[in-house]
Amino acid sequence: MSLMAFLDRVADVATFDKVIEPARQVVLAALKPQALKDLLHGTWLGHPLHPVLVQVPVGTWVSAGLLDAIPPLRPAATVLIGAGVAAAVPASLAGAADWSEQETGVRRLGAVHAVMNISALGLYAGSLIARGRGRGTLGRVLSYAGLGMAGSSAAIGGHMSYAQSSGASHAATAARALTSDWIDLGPLDDLPEGRPALRTGEGDSVEVPLAAVRRGERVDVFVGACSHLSGPLYEGAVEKVGADECLVCPWHGSAFALDSGEPRRGPAANPQEKLEVRIEAGRVMARLPGRHR
Ligand code: FES
Repeated sequence: MSLMAFLDRVADVATFDKVIEPARQVVLAALKPQALKDLLHGTWLGHPLHPVLVQVPVGTWVSAGLLDAIPPLRPAATVLIGAGVAAAVPASLAGAADWSEQETGVRRLGAVHAVMNISALGLYAGSLIARGRGRGTLGRVLSYAGLGMAGSSAAIGGHMSYAQSSGASHAATAARALTSDWIDLGPLDDLPEGRPALRTGEGDSVEVPLAAVRRGERVDVFVGACSHLSGPLYEGAVEKVGADECLVCPWHGSAFALDSGEPRRGPAANPQEKLEVRIEAGRVMARLPGRHR
């Protein structure tokens, strides 16, 4: 069995759900302030924050492993390990925020990922203590064990991203199925004022749902699948969030600015795919932006 198939099997096992769900509720309660959640998700950045932050512990720990192999450079390795331990804390918080609002299979693998990361952190913290007490050999054994643990955990994180689409924009995936031609969405007068309406766009082999929002003579058209987890945006609502009129997802409340598609409230961190619009003889025409054509 390949590693990927093994990880998929783990994601199918419900045995630990009765532990995972209470843990998720604890994370959700601890991250209650929306501003804190948005900060950790990366909503303000327009990109998930967790994969950005993990670069620091991964980079410092790998570098420390190399420096530890060269005796005169071992003091520098200790500094890097300390920097990695400090950087792992915000990286873990961002990961926990994302994990708490993911699908079941991602949460199961994410729980394994989290336990392994905490173990790696513990091994590195133990390594720092051992080095501080002059027990360099033990310190190096612990840090190499931590590197092995963190590396294995990173493989699971990669599977969550690349095979389970955790953190990926589900809207961008849906957009790729859409025709690159102008799509006739029907008469402007048929669209309700100030709330999203379902329209469909032609895809390669399937029809792609779109969410059209009319405000007077202006129409904003988005891919209908929310960038977070494909929630039906055409069943959402229009709401003011901060200074922006936003389209709000009915599933987890992510809000996207109508003018730009940028996320204004999480858990979404990726923007929502927005189509170009023109009105022609009273009919609404929409087309994918150039980056998809
Ligand atoms: S699917 Fe989660 S906020 Fe839209």
